[in-house]
Amino acid sequence: MSLTGFKNISQILTLEGALRKDGRHLKPVDLGLIDDGAIVFDQDKIHWVGRNQDIPDQYRDISFVDRKGFCLTPGLVDAHTHLVFAGDRAHEYAERLNGVTYQEIAARGGGILYTVKCTNEASRADLFKEAINRIERIYSYGVKAIEIKSGYGLNFEKEKELSLIIQDLKKHFAGKMRIHNTYMAAHDIPNTFKSSKDYLDLVVLPLLEELAPLKIIDSVDIFFEQKYFDHLDTERLFLCAKKLNIPTRLHADEFNDNKGAVLGVKHGSLSVDHLLATTEDGFQALANSKTIATILPGTGLFLGKKQAKAKIMLEAGVKLAIASDYNPGSCHFDNVLKLASMVAPNLQINQAALWSAITLNAAHALGFNDQGAIVQGLKPIFTFFKSDSIDKITYNWSENLFEF
Ligand code: NIG
Ligand code: FE
Repeated sequence: MSLTGFKNISQILTLEGALRKDGRHLKPVDLGLIDDGAIVFDQDKIHWVGRNQDIPDQYRDISFVDRKGFCLTPGLVDAHTHLVFAGDRAHEYAERLNGVTYQEIAARGGGILYTVKCTNEASRADLFKEAINRIERIYSYGVKAIEIKSGYGLNFEKEKELSLIIQDLKKHFAGKMRIHNTYMAAHDIPNTFKSSKDYLDLVVLPLLEELAPLKIIDSVDIFFEQKYFDHLDTERLFLCAKKLNIPTRLHADEFNDNKGAVLGVKHGSLSVDHLLATTEDGFQALANSKTIATILPGTGLFLGKKQAKAKIMLEAGVKLAIASDYNPGSCHFDNVLKLASMVAPNLQINQAALWSAITLNAAHALGFNDQGAIVQGLKPIFTFFKSDSIDKITYNWSENLFEF
């Protein structure tokens, strides 16, 4: 066991209080800030964190690296992306600026199905290469764990390939970036199927049964929304996942209040995501559950929609995460730190809730319960920023302060 240490860190954001409070009802004190801090860790866990002047004698022989002028935070986490895809949808963005809606574009065969066409035309090698570039870029913002969904194949072979690509990405980034592989063949219904039920029966469920024994799928997801997958489809997928011992999550209430949050809580989902149209019953269900509410404000911005009611959720005691939803159609933006910093004033998310939403709570949304705070015993997954205060990191909307 070889120990490493950093000292003279200008500020450490431990989130110790946030961890203790399970990421809910957070106040500024829950940031757990340490000025002039030091940390000792090995490959697997944090051994000690505290003030420089309090470094225990047993660690005096370690050669500490000086990190004056830097802040240390828990590693950033992006808990919702669709980053394996080919092509772009710039033409749709332009159309939407001119007044056509996302749903209108989807209804005439554009939208997700357009990306499905491009993705099916791309080779496995090209999709892998492009995904690596995207992940490297996301890493350069300080993100140390990421969720990636399949869902732009929509046929047995291509969906299988996408899940395998995500597994390859996991191997490629091992030790640098933690990857959570989400199976989302239930992203849209190809025109070649009569109904969502048929598509589920012929592709989504049998492929999940085939992939499960490979132990590469970390969770399943479904687009539970009018004109996509309904309540029954969602329950069937979740029952299948439960039988296979795979956690669930869902795209809930993105366009309509379909009671998706309530449904996710009922099934013990790891997270329910989007929640733009969720109302009080959904907030109450979430507050009384372990399910994490992952809001995706980039999508609200990109589609020009009213944002999720973050303040009400926080006051109710909901465990809130913020993720990018990075994808070619509804949010072509991938920087979760900038996103959270930019929307926090309007959504009225306080500083502790903001940081937890992109570290601790986001990690928990992926089942990574061994990271997310800088506390003894947790994994040493953290991010350095070239900044002498935590405040400057979220204040600097333009500059990227990540160092390594
Ligand atoms: O999370 N809602 C479903 N999926 C994505 C959009 C995907 C796309 O438009 O390509 C989302 O918004
Ligand atoms: Fe999404």
